[in-house]
Amino acid sequence: MSEACCDNPKLMKNIVILISGGGSNMAAIVRAAQTQSWEKRFGARVAAVISNRPDAQGLVFAQKQGIPTQTIDHTSFASRASFDQALSVAISQYDLPTQPALVVLAGFMRILTPAFVAQFEGRLINIHPSILPAFPGLHTHQRAIDAGCMFAGATVHRVTAELDFGPILAQAVVPVLANDTEQSLAARVLTQEHLIYPSAVRALISG
Ligand code: GAR
Repeated sequence: MSEACCDNPKLMKNIVILISGGGSNMAAIVRAAQTQSWEKRFGARVAAVISNRPDAQGLVFAQKQGIPTQTIDHTSFASRASFDQALSVAISQYDLPTQPALVVLAGFMRILTPAFVAQFEGRLINIHPSILPAFPGLHTHQRAIDAGCMFAGATVHRVTAELDFGPILAQAVVPVLANDTEQSLAARVLTQEHLIYPSAVRALISG
């Protein structure tokens, strides 16, 4: 990566992170980018954090890091398609023909339309709190406990039109303990998410 590239923000590989809540996975990626010097080494940076909820706590962290943030409140759109269209427009300013953006769903709790997925397919990834293909959808930790699973975990995968189903990029496994609650299991899984998601993003931007 030449100096000229990294000095010119337009030529950066932009990572756009979509969140809905706490944003701890986003924060883990931002911290990895900082501590591992992704900008210097790979010409990549977290260019923007976009939330569909105005009260998402992750926005505060991103703003403190000086990362541009944007809220596109899904409740003010009449349809899923019109929300996704607005999202696509917001992302497009970081998405150059010569440097397509990597779009990272990090606790983004929206089902995306096939048109949106098709637009970003190949560079749209998600983290899901289960060992896919087990337990797609919601309440993964309680479902794992109820099913008597001995292990739970998380999966980073490419996003395809089918919910929580795309090709797997990384997985982590944790034990389910006898006295686990949904909360305790979620917390154990989340610590692993914070390791595998930055590492999967790094593999994509450096590869
Ligand atoms: C994470 O556990 C993530 O895997 C999950 O939401 C949490 C978000 O936490 N995502 C999904 O359930 C998506 N289907 P965070 O906002 O602190 O990163």
